[in-house]
Amino acid sequence: MTGTVPNDTTTDTAAVLDLLTGGWVAQTLRAVAQLRIADHLAHGPATAERVAESTGSDPGTTYRLMRAAASLGVLSYEGDRRFGLTGRGQLLRTDIPGSLRSLVLVQNEHAHWQAWGRLPEAVRQGRSQAREALGAEVFEYFAQPENAEEAALFARAMGDFSGLVIPDAVAAVDTTGVASVVDIGGADGNFVLGLMQADPQLHGQVLDLPHAVEGARAEAGKRGLSERFSAVAGDFFTEVPSADLYLLKHILHDWDDERAVTILRNCRTAVNPSGRLMVLELVIGTSDFATRMDMNMLAVTGGMERDLDEYDALFAASGWRRVNTFPVGGVFSLLELAPA
Ligand SMILES: C[S@@+](CC[C@H](N)C(=O)[O-])C[C@H]1O[C@@H](n2cnc3c(N)ncnc32)[C@H](O)[C@@H]1O
Repeated sequence: MTGTVPNDTTTDTAAVLDLLTGGWVAQTLRAVAQLRIADHLAHGPATAERVAESTGSDPGTTYRLMRAAASLGVLSYEGDRRFGLTGRGQLLRTDIPGSLRSLVLVQNEHAHWQAWGRLPEAVRQGRSQAREALGAEVFEYFAQPENAEEAALFARAMGDFSGLVIPDAVAAVDTTGVASVVDIGGADGNFVLGLMQADPQLHGQVLDLPHAVEGARAEAGKRGLSERFSAVAGDFFTEVPSADLYLLKHILHDWDDERAVTILRNCRTAVNPSGRLMVLELVIGTSDFATRMDMNMLAVTGGMERDLDEYDALFAASGWRRVNTFPVGGVFSLLELAPA
């Protein structure tokens, strides 16, 4: 039987061939997003040649890219080299509510792509290879002035993720009796600003690294919330400002257990009496997306996705206990903690 492929493996072969194109698919989406093809089709279908003219790209290769995007369900083929936008394609437009364009871009940009290229070594060594790939851990890399553009893209990408969960998360958080909220590692501050919009009594703050706080101030200004908002540069491993409520959205998954416990302990030390903490993360066991994101964490940040028992162990080790769990945004979970 050497050299033949038994019939019953053909389905598996097709499945593996499909899986191995995952990286190609991601880069195809990136090219569509980077050339702003969805924006060019926002007002109706157009020929590849017309789009190429607007994007300043080669007409032949633009046609091939758009054909590939149509095969992914991102564009629709309308005949005569004309393409339109599908529902998926709409999500690659800039500045529409729910846009995923920045997320598509940053996941396939230099930092993530290079770090992912060393995934086998990350598994062998039990740690992210970002330092080997980028010369620095990923958040140090984003803090370097020469990477400011990619760092801003990363912050916007986090905003894209926020768009998926903030409405549910804001609805789930009870701010009765809460005067001050700090969004720890809050980037553009989408979570805290959402809460402030829902509750006009709240004062909000973002704590983040120095390069990130300007974006938060700008976002607060855009929403007319500057008077109740401040952004402070700091290090959540050292200390956090006191508050009635802390938000940790997509923070704990960036770090190993020891570092995650340090962040949680710093919040526990500074929290006002009867204060609370909201953790927003994917939880292993609730979606395939969580196990894929776990590989992203291993490759890029050195962190990990966790199941509920693993989260509860971190909370117990840092003086917190989980008192509520809310599903939000389809695949995410919002965990409400009170002092233990
Ligand atoms: C994955 S992002 C999450 C951003 C935001 N919470 C959100 O969900 O949109 C992690 C954030 O942690 C910030 N960060 C990393 N190390 C930090 C540190 N030592 N102190 C404060 N912020 C830090 C990063 O700058 C980044 O904004």
